[in-house]
Formats: sequence, C-alpha cells, structure tokens
Amino acid sequence: MVIAIDGPAGAGKSTVARALAHELGFTYLDSGAMYRCVGLLSLAAPASEPAALARAAAIDLVPSQADGPPRVLLDRHDLTEQIRAPEVSEAASLVAADPGVREALVAKQRELIASGDWVAEGRDVGTVVAPDAALKMFLTADPHERARRRAAELGADADTVFVEQGLRDERDRTRAHSPLRPAPGAVELDTTGLEVAEVVARIVALARAAAST
Ligand code: C5P
Repeated sequence: MVIAIDGPAGAGKSTVARALAHELGFTYLDSGAMYRCVGLLSLAAPASEPAALARAAAIDLVPSQADGPPRVLLDRHDLTEQIRAPEVSEAASLVAADPGVREALVAKQRELIASGDWVAEGRDVGTVVAPDAALKMFLTADPHERARRRAAELGADADTVFVEQGLRDERDRTRAHSPLRPAPGAVELDTTGLEVAEVVARIVALARAAAST
C-alpha cells in the first residue's frame, strides 16, 4: 500500500510522513532528498546537463531504525546533512523544473515503491509518481507558520526563510512539468496550529478506512 503526501515546503510533510511510516510499519520515501542530491551535484558540476546528472546519480536512501531522518547516500558518500543547506534547497528547486531530471527521478521512485508498503512524500507523488496510491494527502499550512517551522529546523532567520520559501513555492507551483498541486481525490489538510500527533492520527484513520475498502 502506498500513502502519498504532497504539499509545499514547511507544511509538515517530512515530520508527519516519518512518524506515520513509523506508526504503520511502512517505509518512508523522501522524494525531495533525491532532487536535493541532483541539486548538490549541479552545484559541484555547473557545466553538466542536469538530466544526465539525475540519470547517473547513484542515490541510496537508507531507512532509519526509529522515526528519525533516513540517511541519504550519493555514490556511497553520506550527504544527509549537506543536502539540507539553503543553497541546495534553491539548486534542488531549479533542477526540479527540468523534465529530464523529473523523468529520471520518477523512474527511480516508482521502482522503489513497486513493492511493499510506503509513505512517499514530495510535490508530485499523488499526481505523477503514484496516482493510484491508496491514500493521497495534500498538506498545507499558513505561509508564516511554514517559514517559522523551517527556520527552527535550520536554525535560520524566519524572515529570510519566508522570502526564500515564497520564491521556491512559486517556482514549484508554476513550473510547466509536474507543478505542485493537489492530486485528484487528494484529502487536503491544513496543519496550521495542529500537533504532529494530531495530523498523524487523522491520516492513520484515513489510511485504515482506505485499506478496508
Ligand atoms: O521537499 P524538499 O524541500 O526537500 O524538496 C526540495 C525541492 O525538490 C522542492 O522545492 C521541489 O522543487 C523539488 N521536489 C520536487 N518534487 C518532489 C520533491 C521535491 O519537485 N516530489
């Protein structure tokens, strides 16, 4: 069974998806980590074709034992921390607009989730990667709250994060290929003011209902 969780940056997707996967005993797929790996590669090799980098990238997402963040390996190097740098967020969002990059990464993601039980999180999981997912969620939150959450995670200034996040959201929403939008049939949930446990409990209830139909 696949549960797809999409939404803009800071809507709570990663925290919720990890906790949900832990609770249900599913594997967590952070599709954004793959775009971040290609973004990092594009910074290191600016003259290269992003789609070729995406096809060649040997990305391994190693699930963590508890509900902590999984490790992200690129060519066997652990880049879990590096890919979270603000310049990599920007580079990821730029390469993510390239149709060749998307094609290569969507193929890797589909291969991963073809068997087993997954909570897959990103921007296009419900619309493109797994349109037949048993449950599709679209998480949103007030933009100021989203910026506050991201800033707290990064130890950065909330106003700076608010501006950068706004630019990234706009790019993700307006790109020609797989723009960020709720999938048909997705359940939209505004997480503003909600505790993580509350959001997870609501999704668990929806997942149980979906599994029994
Ligand atoms: O989710 P995260 O912030 O790590 O994603 C980084 C960037 O990767 C996003 O801003 C978006 O441009 C891109 N992305 C995407 N499709 C996904 C996941 C992430 O385009 N499924």
